[in-house]
Amino acid sequence: MFERIKFLRSELARHNRLYYIENAPEISDPEFDRMMSELVDLERQFPQHDDPSSPTKRVGSDLTNSFESVVHRYPMLSLANTYSIDEVGEFVRRVENEIGQAEYVCELKFDGTAVSLLYENGVLSRAATRGDGVTGDDVTENIRTVQSIPLAVSTPATFEIRGEIIMPYPAFERLNAEREEEGEQPFANPRNAAAGSLKLQSSAIVAKRGLDNFMYSVVGEGLPFETHYETLMAAREWGFKVSEHVRVCRSLGEIEGFIAEIDSLRKTLPYATDGVVIKVDSLNAQKRLGSTAKSPRWAVAYKFAAERALTRLESVEFSVGRTGAVTPVANLAPVQLAGTTVKRASMHNADQIALLDIRVGDSVWVEKGGEIIPKITGVELSERVRESVPLAFPLTCPACGTALVRPEGEARHYCPNAAGCMPQIVGRISHWVSRKAMDIEGLGEETIQLLVEEGLLGDIADIYELRGEDIAELPRLGKKSADNILSGIEMSKAKDFDNVLYGLGIRFVGLTTAKHLAKHFGSMENLMNASQEELLQVEEVGDKIVTSIKEYFDDTNNIELIGRLSDARVPMEYKFAADSDKLKGLNIVISGTFENHSREELKQMIELHGGRNQSAVAANTDLLLAGAKIGPAKLAKANKLGIKIIGEQDFLLLL
Ligand code: IVH
Repeated sequence: MFERIKFLRSELARHNRLYYIENAPEISDPEFDRMMSELVDLERQFPQHDDPSSPTKRVGSDLTNSFESVVHRYPMLSLANTYSIDEVGEFVRRVENEIGQAEYVCELKFDGTAVSLLYENGVLSRAATRGDGVTGDDVTENIRTVQSIPLAVSTPATFEIRGEIIMPYPAFERLNAEREEEGEQPFANPRNAAAGSLKLQSSAIVAKRGLDNFMYSVVGEGLPFETHYETLMAAREWGFKVSEHVRVCRSLGEIEGFIAEIDSLRKTLPYATDGVVIKVDSLNAQKRLGSTAKSPRWAVAYKFAAERALTRLESVEFSVGRTGAVTPVANLAPVQLAGTTVKRASMHNADQIALLDIRVGDSVWVEKGGEIIPKITGVELSERVRESVPLAFPLTCPACGTALVRPEGEARHYCPNAAGCMPQIVGRISHWVSRKAMDIEGLGEETIQLLVEEGLLGDIADIYELRGEDIAELPRLGKKSADNILSGIEMSKAKDFDNVLYGLGIRFVGLTTAKHLAKHFGSMENLMNASQEELLQVEEVGDKIVTSIKEYFDDTNNIELIGRLSDARVPMEYKFAADSDKLKGLNIVISGTFENHSREELKQMIELHGGRNQSAVAANTDLLLAGAKIGPAKLAKANKLGIKIIGEQDFLLLL
């Protein structure tokens, strides 16, 4: 049994991290809750295996290093969850056993991310995420961009108010459409999108994300209220957004009535809710009931089960993507679920398959929560056929037979044979020719596959060495298609440098990031030579992207590939919209500080006049624009290379 306990602990810890830190959960809340309750039961049965760091002993954490930590004046607890009306009844009985007859406030359980807002003398002074409940992240600047949060309210009081930051469905859909368009991973659900947005480095981007909020509690001592309901009404009065779906209930029957109403109403709401929260109304009674380390004893969350259906798992495919990641995909007997026919479902990874012990031929539960892709969440063991066998995750690549690797700390298996594995090669080439990259017409996935099989293509640079005769000879092609493909290839040389950069398929570099990089560095050479610090200065570029870019350029195969692309006249420089071409073709390095203009302004001027701003003095530098406190090494190097050195005044005269 200890094995099972250990397994559940490590899985729960991993899912906790995926949920709170990476905003990329792999399992739904009900699944997580089921695992947690199994672990709680086992720990109760086998107290000899107690462990203070078990996931049952703490609430999750969403701390990241990039925001200042805030210690909450009052801990931000979570709520006891239940999926059964009977347990809501137990809650009511327990409460009334302790304090006698009570009234309850029923509210929506919003599916977003919690924040605590501090108002000092009526003015918003600090906003923090929940974090681990004790310490959170200071996200004040990002919260200020949420239009529905008042920056100042109509009471001059000092208080802390808590609520949920949500991303309404229309904003969520718009954001995901944009992300897909840019080759970035879409968010799995509005909750992750809201949480992820709050943790963005740039509040300007947060402002465009369409976040919203609902407030649900005011905390502090000496508040002039006797009931929770009064508090909510006062908060609304002060200018906060408080949901209209709030009701005082005086019996279990009334609570059940509210839950039933909300179960149908929620399907019509423009934002995600996943349950109803039931809170004891009297603040005095709340105080008497108190809290456990994790959650208040005066409240409970009734959660709605995600829509699910039972169907047969017919087969499992393991597909290899452009990056070599191997993902299991379930082929299901078609089944109706939340208005659509589901035939395929995500199975995530080997751990998930082992955890659920999913086997081909099983009757499996498929769920579609707030998620886009349905997934298998459990097996109906009562319907298992006796001769079924556990599903084995392949040890070798289903496409090329190479032994798969699983990087430390990652849940996915990868095929390391990047250079020789067909779906990876085809995937990279398909990405290069795709519309947002080089947009080469005539080269569909099937044709690429054929050309790779025939040995005519092995990487993206080979595209530029294709000869018409070779293509025309291939089955299903011919002279006309060959001409078409060749002209598409020729036209691709007129694409922009940002398309090239995106087309390389560097991990996490979507089209938007590629544009920012292209504009910032102006050329492939500058980008390749950029330091970590320089990369971090680029809009929307963080540590993850920097690491990925560095890794890409550290690989000599990639450098060679870029060299071949450059020889083929694939654009390696950004075309700045030029005001004139006075500086056309000139590579200019700026160093030092200047009297009249900032370096950024000078850089823009260079670009507007057709020149290129280089970060370091090199053999191909044409001009060194020197200011006060110029770096001595730069100056010495420029002198040594015989590069012309001019000051700000001369530069302005030049224009
Ligand atoms: S009250 C002490 N009310 O649910 C508990 N929470 O599982 C304070 N939530 O972290 C929370 N809607 O993010 C409360 N009407 C509501 C809620 C709500 C959503 C979230 C909140 C909290 C989590 C607890």
